[in-house]
Amino acid sequence: MCTVLVTGGLGFIGSHTVVELQNEGFDVIIIDNLSNSSISVLDNITSITGIKPAYFNIDLKNKEAVQHFFNTNAVQGVIHFAAYKAVGESVLKPLDYYENNISSLVYLLQEMQKHQIHNFIFSSSCTVYGQADKLPITEDAPIKFAESPYGNTKQIGEEIIFDTTKASHLKAIALRYFNPIGAHKSAKIGELPIGIPQNLIPFVTQTAAGIREELSVFGSDYPTPDGTAIRDYIHVVDLAKAHIVSLKRLLNNNHKKTFEVFNIGTGKGNSVLEIIKTFEKVSGKKLKYKLVERREGDITAAYADTTIANTELGWKAEQTLEEALLSAWEWQKTLIT
Ligand code: WQD
Repeated sequence: MCTVLVTGGLGFIGSHTVVELQNEGFDVIIIDNLSNSSISVLDNITSITGIKPAYFNIDLKNKEAVQHFFNTNAVQGVIHFAAYKAVGESVLKPLDYYENNISSLVYLLQEMQKHQIHNFIFSSSCTVYGQADKLPITEDAPIKFAESPYGNTKQIGEEIIFDTTKASHLKAIALRYFNPIGAHKSAKIGELPIGIPQNLIPFVTQTAAGIREELSVFGSDYPTPDGTAIRDYIHVVDLAKAHIVSLKRLLNNNHKKTFEVFNIGTGKGNSVLEIIKTFEKVSGKKLKYKLVERREGDITAAYADTTIANTELGWKAEQTLEEALLSAWEWQKTLIT
């Protein structure tokens, strides 16, 4: 039995990845300090798979706690989600973001090196590309000056990992996520934004549920067909599955380089207005929205070239935008009651 540590395993993408790991027969240990998740997710994961993951409430900034964990638990691989991830908040609290996202990564890698754990999957982001010059975006697109401290922590994180693979036996894969949306088909796990949602889809579903008065569409003067910004919205379960194939690639030594990067998206871009129209179609709900000013730091368009992920990982997004949006709505409806 292969034991995998999933940091941030009670979070949105982490919890969906834990379910897929358990479906594949992996033994999962979760570390999560509940700073952006709820302990109820642990039981919800268990109710889906019938297997309760081991769970430790550890703050990865606590070096001694991280050392103690690795001194007392044997793992063969680590999937690292735990990080602060709100772009806007990172601009207001840069030092919190650098301290949390960077020091926790360093402590994790130090313990992996000490305990000869060589397989590492890192949660990165398409944010590292900024506004790419060419679309769709390939992995060799230039890394641009980060628009936010959050995006910078992802760029720095990739550099730290790359340097560590050069100086040790570490094998690592960074997955550059595009926009994860939706929820598990059981509607037992999904996105749980705390407070006012920063991301589009939870704001859409909360507006449809009557929790939010009206959706603001940030910008209608972009150089796009309908004037609203374009993103690559990928079903979170498709994204979770990309972590499984990546981990197996490392465990089976099928990697071509000790540090590899893959874009994980659908390869298709959709505008905000297209998202609204598609959501209305699949949910049967009319969405109240208004066109307002652009949001500071937003880019016009981003969608992935997934050729490398398709050919090297043998992975491709399978679920449609309609299925993703409907799953988000089914999940939201469980939250109203
Ligand atoms: C999507 C589009 C908004 C809210 C972020 C992170 C990125 C990654 C994915 C972690 C944009 C518009 C949004 C609203 C709107 N996360 N929008 N009204 O900014 O593309 O990416 O999430 O890795 O790192 O930056 O996602 O969902 O915030 O915005 O019009 O109320 O929806 O302007 O065009 P984003 P988002």
